[in-house]
Amino acid sequence: MVKIAPSILSADFSRLAEQVQAVERAGVDYLHLDVMDGHFVPNITFGPGIIKSLRQNSQLPFDVHLMIDEPERYLESFVAAGADLISVHVEACRHLHRTLETIKELGARPAVALNPATPLSSIEHVLAEVDMVLLMTVNPGFGGQKFIPAVIRKIVQLKKMLDDENLNIDIEVDGGINAETALQAVRAGANVLVAGSAIFGANDIEKAVRTLRMSVNT
Ligand code: DX5
Ligand code: ZN
Repeated sequence: MVKIAPSILSADFSRLAEQVQAVERAGVDYLHLDVMDGHFVPNITFGPGIIKSLRQNSQLPFDVHLMIDEPERYLESFVAAGADLISVHVEACRHLHRTLETIKELGARPAVALNPATPLSSIEHVLAEVDMVLLMTVNPGFGGQKFIPAVIRKIVQLKKMLDDENLNIDIEVDGGINAETALQAVRAGANVLVAGSAIFGANDIEKAVRTLRMSVNT
């Protein structure tokens, strides 16, 4: 079963709780929270404070995507704020294995994220440590960008790598996901879909979630 994780990056921040409740009513699986520091990516969003406030307003599992340098410095704060799943970028971690272990020790589910240009070989030796691999399908930093088709081959290769090792790990795709690209990603092997503008940019949020779900169930 494919999971849907709306990214609040494209939500109306003045009505955040309301917008989160709308996707929750629509039956999504996770809430995807994009944390950006202005260093690792050229944009700044929000930190643990906003996540903690949202935690009071939602039952959804929080899928926190850390696009920050040295994420190990903030893991405790994000877990305390209510993160269930934490993705750290391989490009941002000096000691990736240790960082993933720390996430687990803190009681959250560890995931590793890769930029489009980063090869799968960079995570080969930490696969046993993670619950999910996040493959960026755009260069991180902004919502509303175009899906990079070259990542399709990478999804296929990752799926094969996991199957060969008998590893039951989710493959999440993030960036430029809409009804059309979602189907391509799922056919390639992805099973968690992040969507920002396709959901929060729509007039009818619940309809946008239904459309996305139907697009991959055909
Ligand atoms: C991009 C973020 C994404 C973003 C996706 O750096 O990681 O989660 O919100 O937005 P869309 O779906 O609009 O590409
Ligand atoms: Zn994201």
